[in-house]
Amino acid sequence: NKFIVPPPRIVNREVVKPLLCGPGPCDYWPSVAEALSKPVLTPICDEFFSVLDEIRAGLQYVFQTRSKLVLAMSGSGHSGMEAVISNLVGRGETLLIASRGIWDQRANIIANRYGIKVETISIPMNVTFSAEQLEPELKRLRPTAMFITHGDSSTGTLQNLQGLGDLCHNSLRFSFRRYGALLLVDTVVTLGAVPFFMDEWGVDGVYTSTQKAFSGPAGITPVAFSARAEEKIKTRKHDPPFYFDIKLLASQWNCYGSTRTYHHTMSPPLFWALRCCLQEIAKETLPASWARHEATTARFHKRLREYSFEFLVPKPEDRLATVTTVVLPKGYDYMEFVKTMRARHNILIFAGLGPTVGKALRIGLMGVNSTIQVADAVAEAMADTLRALKKSSL
Ligand code: GLV
Repeated sequence: NKFIVPPPRIVNREVVKPLLCGPGPCDYWPSVAEALSKPVLTPICDEFFSVLDEIRAGLQYVFQTRSKLVLAMSGSGHSGMEAVISNLVGRGETLLIASRGIWDQRANIIANRYGIKVETISIPMNVTFSAEQLEPELKRLRPTAMFITHGDSSTGTLQNLQGLGDLCHNSLRFSFRRYGALLLVDTVVTLGAVPFFMDEWGVDGVYTSTQKAFSGPAGITPVAFSARAEEKIKTRKHDPPFYFDIKLLASQWNCYGSTRTYHHTMSPPLFWALRCCLQEIAKETLPASWARHEATTARFHKRLREYSFEFLVPKPEDRLATVTTVVLPKGYDYMEFVKTMRARHNILIFAGLGPTVGKALRIGLMGVNSTIQVADAVAEAMADTLRALKKSSL
């Protein structure tokens, strides 16, 4: 018998789906669940091309950009991070990373693999940067680009981005093009839920995700590049990896209205789903979605304060609307808390990640789960879990 590996026994089993209130993935829009079972189209036909065009129009809306270089990578959020960095910063060039959580650490690892010279400026994980902290580093290093996360799902902070584009490109205080750096931003856990204006804020390279505030499946990652970034892509001396090459992808996506050149085989179900997420956001409108997320989080935080939970992020203005980080009283075990929430309430929240391991719970209220009812249910379940664990083990 030449088969050294027998067929595995893969049995069907029941999955009891929890309410997904971690930092992602989030529950789907009902229409997205339907969209995932639409007929499979070949990614090379007119019907599919019109899906791509609709996705690009939806992405220009959610990123608030008129840029033509807007598309979605076939891959998880990390593919967006890798595409933005590898297309815009070449070997030996400097990338300044503003560091306060796990995602900038990932950017650091990725950039190092491309031979990029990485410089970091760090602050404690539960606060955010001011322009005054960043400017001396831009001045000293004259980097090709600066990387910063808008929302950090590992720590629950929201970075104010206003003014950072001007700071990177010119200088708030000095003459035009003094620094000439590109601004690269991770909006994985913010886009759709929190105000973001790519063109107005001068963002040059940005990516987001579909499994968080978009309420869709992971595996397809929106990216957008400014005119400045496009110029860099046209004139760069380095070649990014083939799979991440935005020049080639722009041609597959017909970003400039002239070509549809095959690059790789896209996944039609994921494209139907993304199109549907964008349709839902467009129907609700961004201002309404932002207001809904703000109201849900205000309610959730009020309830947490009533139950005497402590926030990891001290300043309310630094707190992210989509992911809340909570510090438990001494003696509680974070993993046990998460497991007990699931066992008693079938609600899935997460423990810490990266700098918050063993230091915080992470609760995500975003996309379809950003409602007052969910906020109340999660706060009540957390209070019950705290009481239950106290009785049994403290
Ligand atoms: C993943 O994105 C996480 O924040 O856990």
